[in-house]
Amino acid sequence: METSEEQKYGVRRLEMSDKGKGFIELLQQLSVCDSVSDKEFEDRFRELSSLGDDHVICVIEDHVSKKIIATGSVFIEKKFLRNCGKVGHIEDVVVDSSTRGKQLGKKIINFLTDHARTMGCYKVILDCSIENKLFYEKCGFKQKEIQMVRYFV
Ligand SMILES: CC(C)(COP(=O)(O)OP(=O)(O)OC[C@H]1O[C@@H](n2cnc3c(N)ncnc32)[C@H](O)[C@@H]1OP(=O)(O)O)[C@@H](O)C(=O)NCCC(=O)NCCS
Repeated sequence: METSEEQKYGVRRLEMSDKGKGFIELLQQLSVCDSVSDKEFEDRFRELSSLGDDHVICVIEDHVSKKIIATGSVFIEKKFLRNCGKVGHIEDVVVDSSTRGKQLGKKIINFLTDHARTMGCYKVILDCSIENKLFYEKCGFKQKEIQMVRYFV
């Protein structure tokens, strides 16, 4: 029986075993992510898991190669503003360079956005480079304001 695209590229939550499936190597395509030991991965995984639905990392696994080929995360900020409203923050979205342009990035964004909506957020926000503006517009986002940053190292 042939594997449908949906079965082949379904989105699911990160699992502990994903470290062995190239999850860290995928993140390295996005930014600095030096070697993470198994212990460091396990500790951070447990820490994030304890936050439950307030911090979700999702992945797409290629069921043929058994590699993680796309990921993204969303965490839920709880505010006093907006009648104790909630905001979803999308972070760390990356698709493996060999599988870009196949709507996987959009799938990841849709999963994270749906999660924020389900959690009762009144909006979902993210930062991106000018180069990726059109991608996010195609995912239903629009540009608003500017980003400020101050690094500590
Ligand atoms: C940005 C990124 C996540 C997009 O993932 P992708 O799987 O290649 O994107 P998709 O195939 O889902 O693209 C969805 C739509 O956006 C368009 N698109 C994707 N990237 C684009 C870009 N950089 N510029 C313009 N359009 C883009 C696609 O052509 C597609 O259009 P269509 O629906 O009309 O066919 C991927 O290129 C990537 O991982 N880049 C490196 C890491 C990065 O920059 N991450 C974002 C951090 S903010």
